[in-house]
Amino acid sequence: MNNQNIESVLQEARKFEPSAEFIEKSNFKSLQEYQDLRERSLEEPEKFWADLAQSQLHWFKQWEKVLDWQPPIAKWFVGGKLNISYNCLDRHLHSWRKNKAAIIWEGEPGDSRVITYAQLHREVCQFANALKQLGASKGDRIAIYMPMIPEAAIAMLACARIGAAHTVIFGGFSREAIKDRLNDAQVKIVVTADGGYRKDKVVPLKPQVDLALSDNGAPSVEKVLVVQRSNSPTEMVEGRDYWWHELRKSVSSECQAQEMDSEDMLFILYTSGTTGTPKGVVHTTGGYNLYSHMTTKWVFDLQETDVYWCTADVGWITGHSYIVYGPLSNGATTVMYEGVTRASNPGCIWDVIEKYGVTIFYTAPTAIRAWLKMGEEHPNSRNLTSLRLLGTVGEPINPEAWIWYHRVIGGERCPIVDTWWQTETGGIMIAPIPSVIPTKPGSCTQPLPGIQAEIVDLDGNGLLANQGGYLTIKYPWPGMMRTVYGNPERFRKSYWEHIQPKDGQYFYFAGDGAREDEDGYFWVMGRVDDVINVAGHRLGTMEIESALVSHPAVAEAAVVGKADSLKGEDIFAFITLESSYSPSDKLAESLKQHVVEEIGAIARPGEIRFTDALPKTRSGKIMRRLLRGLASGGEIVGDTSTLEDRNVLDQLRESI
Ligand code: WTA
Repeated sequence: MNNQNIESVLQEARKFEPSAEFIEKSNFKSLQEYQDLRERSLEEPEKFWADLAQSQLHWFKQWEKVLDWQPPIAKWFVGGKLNISYNCLDRHLHSWRKNKAAIIWEGEPGDSRVITYAQLHREVCQFANALKQLGASKGDRIAIYMPMIPEAAIAMLACARIGAAHTVIFGGFSREAIKDRLNDAQVKIVVTADGGYRKDKVVPLKPQVDLALSDNGAPSVEKVLVVQRSNSPTEMVEGRDYWWHELRKSVSSECQAQEMDSEDMLFILYTSGTTGTPKGVVHTTGGYNLYSHMTTKWVFDLQETDVYWCTADVGWITGHSYIVYGPLSNGATTVMYEGVTRASNPGCIWDVIEKYGVTIFYTAPTAIRAWLKMGEEHPNSRNLTSLRLLGTVGEPINPEAWIWYHRVIGGERCPIVDTWWQTETGGIMIAPIPSVIPTKPGSCTQPLPGIQAEIVDLDGNGLLANQGGYLTIKYPWPGMMRTVYGNPERFRKSYWEHIQPKDGQYFYFAGDGAREDEDGYFWVMGRVDDVINVAGHRLGTMEIESALVSHPAVAEAAVVGKADSLKGEDIFAFITLESSYSPSDKLAESLKQHVVEEIGAIARPGEIRFTDALPKTRSGKIMRRLLRGLASGGEIVGDTSTLEDRNVLDQLRESI
């Protein structure tokens, strides 16, 4: 985080109270009521979560033990049996919700679908039976590489229904990123679509899967199930590839939900860290179901009549917890939109809100900044009065964007919930309860019930108000990740050893720096590791560097984040070339394209800088701190005495 941002955060002192009208209709009507709940959650955490698990979810069999905590391994609701697809579907069929809209879907070209709970149940059962017919069974891993169409959610629920773990791969990833995930998770079946619509074009998906599978690239994959969406010409491999619309003709629409152990794996979701390839974050059934359910209810003040829209993609954790599982477990109506804001339709987001009367809207600061730039006339020419609550996630929100969101989109009447959490936490950790916690622009406010967050130094000591430190969690919560798939040692090292445990106290730490102000409000300052947050998407510098060095021209690559007013951060790559190549704009362009082909468009470097050498320490470590300073055009701060060759730095500075 740069100094300017820190200052703007420090100077932000405005406080916004929820309106009397909002409070009157909300789930929590008084601060006292909420504080009592939070106190109970801290005094008797196990009883607190057990009571909620009992009252909010359906269990085939009651658990024997609420929490088994052998740091850093937590097990929740040990011995309990349930199925999250049952909780998201079947139990709503016994009430009037049966014919309530579960998913309202809007396609980019303007087609749309409304799917009731009864219909969704039927679709999921059929999809589950099709997967079974292709050989899937409990414990298998199934990859889902899809556009934003209802079948993405249907496939997830179908996997959960038969007890296969899904691993959703964001549709913007390409062949190498897909291949790595398929191999790491030893995936048996891939669910994909011919293509999807994005910015008025068809983005082919099945061909990327074909590339990942070519040359025996992912030998564990036996079958590919293809949903027809874009009607693009699609090659099908005999005996491996099947069309969903053909298979469904022969499968039953009844499929009983498999009884799952509370700790059975529900899904793996890959996310970037500081070192190595992306980590397979593992979430299990019971704890995740409860945590995504409760946080949806608390943070979004969810009511029976809400039309709730989260604009994330199901390829990210936000889509998992707050498009699919959280809202459906609560029996809510969740909106799914295939498109994004684009030049040909700059008001499409506001059209969707007006068309369906969206009441709760959850999005990312990077999107808000883009809308702000496009001008108020687009939202102002639509009727947005149905909105009652707004949310943000993915990166710190700058006060200017917050105020714009509040004024222009929220009509100054909608509270804004700034929600801090991570793939690893399964659900929202720090966020306001909108009816009782006043908000301050740029702060995610206070930890949710049951969450013991603390800012500490490297030794685990608590810090004074407004002192920056490491954002840690000191007690297990049901939605926490259980392990890194196939690599428990990496789980321990990545999350539990950065701050040394002492006297039996363990600190979960996953990369963010923050401070807590005198009112107990948290202000997240950004990643303190080498993860770059580009437009709310988490990317590891290592992955991008590996993609770059796989190009024949590249000898060495060092990637850093550069502050960007729209995307938060942009990717800046420093490159040294093999001797037979020389720098040119054309080469820079083809390196960027190479990264797009290897990882995907989200990882395309904004800037490439060729250099004769990279600044290194005497022991050969690249000094990223210096490169970050150079990339941002600022002066190099801090110690440069460990630098092996000062000339390298001077040359780089000149070139920039
Ligand atoms: C960042 C997304 C500030 C943070 C749910 C975190 C945020 C990373 C916020 C996780 C927020 C997320 N304010 N920063 N409200 N929400 N972040 O795993 O750096 O894709 O560690 O999960 O996003 O990204 P991930």
